[in-house]
Amino acid sequence: MSIKINKLEIENVKRVKAVKLEPSASGLTIIGGKNNQGKTSVLDAIAWTLGGNNFRPSKATREGSVIPPCLSITMSNGLLVERKGKNADLKITDPSGQKAGQQLLDSFVEKLALDLPRFMRANDAEKANTLLNIIGVGEKLHALEQQEKELYNERLAIGRIADQKKKFADEQKYFPDAPKELVSPSELIRQQQEILARNGENQRKRDRLNEITHEKHRISDEIQRLEAQLADLKEKVEERKTAYELVAADEESARKTVSELVDESTEKLEKNLAEVEEINRKVRANLDKDKAEDDAREYASQYSAMTVKIEEVRKEKAALLSQADLPLPELRVEDGKLLYKGQQWDNMSGSDQLKVATAIVRKLNPQCGFVLIDKLEQMDLETLKEFGVWLEQEGLQVIATRVSTGEECSIIISNGYGGMNTPSPSKTWKKGEF
Ligand SMILES: Nc1ncnc2c1ncn2[C@@H]1O[C@H](COP(=O)(O)OP(=O)(O)OP(=O)(O)O)[C@@H](O)[C@H]1O
Ligand SMILES: [Mg+2]
Repeated sequence: MSIKINKLEIENVKRVKAVKLEPSASGLTIIGGKNNQGKTSVLDAIAWTLGGNNFRPSKATREGSVIPPCLSITMSNGLLVERKGKNADLKITDPSGQKAGQQLLDSFVEKLALDLPRFMRANDAEKANTLLNIIGVGEKLHALEQQEKELYNERLAIGRIADQKKKFADEQKYFPDAPKELVSPSELIRQQQEILARNGENQRKRDRLNEITHEKHRISDEIQRLEAQLADLKEKVEERKTAYELVAADEESARKTVSELVDESTEKLEKNLAEVEEINRKVRANLDKDKAEDDAREYASQYSAMTVKIEEVRKEKAALLSQADLPLPELRVEDGKLLYKGQQWDNMSGSDQLKVATAIVRKLNPQCGFVLIDKLEQMDLETLKEFGVWLEQEGLQVIATRVSTGEECSIIISNGYGGMNTPSPSKTWKKGEF
């Protein structure tokens, strides 16, 4: 059960002379009045009483008062919180009569409930963080956001490389007529060597023919020389004739062989060899381009994979937030910013800002059942009514000020005085003053 303010009595604080108020347990209690009458001073006094000396106004004692401030607040849990005397010392009395200090108040009084403007002044990220911490997803969401950021940066880097690789691949020359693999010149060289070997053999045979021819001439010469000595050398002549015939036969066979010889040309091979280098240059270029395209494809696929991962993290984030128990139905957190009815803080109407701030602050410490709101005149009567209905549904007590003397006000402050009931004689509050 959250703790509320049942009753308050304030004297001689800032502009307040004497104010007594019993706010509604839930919904709006509006402190009305014209400007400069002490409305905000009442809220300042409540904040000081419950929030401790950090909330003490710089000029707490009302000017012209010889009596020090006197503050008294009765809480719904029965605690009586008082500040009295020269030093406005804190005195807390619990129903059983035991005394307690500021620490006890701090356990159920939410500081931002006493100082809503502090929440409203916070930047977008601080507001969103407050809400995320309340709904208990702050740390997890922060981790997911961190993860998303890292993935995003990683993908950005990969995307840049992918673009460069693609550009590089596109710039590479391509030769569609070149073979897929590098051509080896060794087979051509081997063929060339074989032909050269065969041609060498032919040459050897031609040399042999020359030798034989030469031999024939030498023998013929010898016959002529020997014929002169035919008589005595007849036997030799016969011998040489036989030899001559043999050689002539050899010659005939060799001549026949030689006449059938055809030399093969190596011209084509030489041309092919010259072409190999050019072909291989193209093949290498094509292989380089293929490699560059593979690289580009690889990076493009990595980029797509990163996109999938980022989408997953984003979905996880959205799921985390959609499951969270948010203080207002149309309140969301997106990209580290609060959104209410789809609008960021600086684009919300003043009344929506107040509603959002109240709803969030209310959740900060569920034990704290009240929120103080200054300057509620930015809400028109209809919005004010809706706000009041919502507060009642939430079981939240709001004590607010408004420059108005209309019927919506629970109490009108005038010249520092206000109170629903006739003040007790001990108060300095003067009857009929407002
Ligand atoms: N200690 C003090 N003693 C007397 N007057 C003070 C003291 N502190 C502030 N004031 C005066 O109180 C006035 C403001 O009071 P307060 O802010 O409570 O009025 P308000 O009703 O909220 O006015 P508004 O409608 O303009 O917000 C100022 O004129 C200020 O100078
Ligand atoms: Mg004011």
